[in-house]
Amino acid sequence: MNPVIAIYPGSFDPLTNGHLDLIERGSKIFDRLIVAILRNPEKDPLFTLEERRQMLQAMTRKYPNVAVDVFEGLLVDYARRVNAHALLRGIRAISDYEYELQMALMNRKLYPQLETVFMMPAEKYSYVSSRLVKDVVRLGGSVKGLIPELVEGKLHAKVNGAHQRQAGGAAETRSRTTRRQGRGRR
Ligand code: PNS
Repeated sequence: MNPVIAIYPGSFDPLTNGHLDLIERGSKIFDRLIVAILRNPEKDPLFTLEERRQMLQAMTRKYPNVAVDVFEGLLVDYARRVNAHALLRGIRAISDYEYELQMALMNRKLYPQLETVFMMPAEKYSYVSSRLVKDVVRLGGSVKGLIPELVEGKLHAKVNGAHQRQAGGAAETRSRTTRRQGRGRR
């Protein structure tokens, strides 16, 4: 039997422990698992494609049958190119199901030989999403244990960098206003 190549696609902005949990599960049942990051020109991600690729690579190095790649355009076209016949997606809760079902059926219509396989991450990650993690860190909360430490450090650096740039920008605007007001008074 031919080895089964599966794709685990997503934005991974950023990678969470829920994603990693699924990668580990997928690595056990597929011969080869390609974690494929979508290059989406319409989205404005927090992490660049290269940053996301590096974080994924660092965190999946221990799985010999897992590779990290980037794709753009239709997922099914990418699947054909890499000869994948399985698509791995995670379902955390019923709320994920409707969107995932729609995608799976559309992908099946476009490429019937590609089978979508749903897996559940560990319950302790069932509420974790990249979006929530970013929100919590932006607002000063802790996401310890929900994302890899490597990602946590980089996320804090990004968010603090953005705060500092904002604060710097605001201070610059204030000082420009004060200078202008000062000139007006003279
Ligand atoms: O990280 P996400 O948002 O869960 O990933 C969604 C992703 C990348 C799997 C999906 O948007 C996708 O496959 N995009 C590629 C374009 C495509 O094939 N669209 C039709 C899907 S039915």
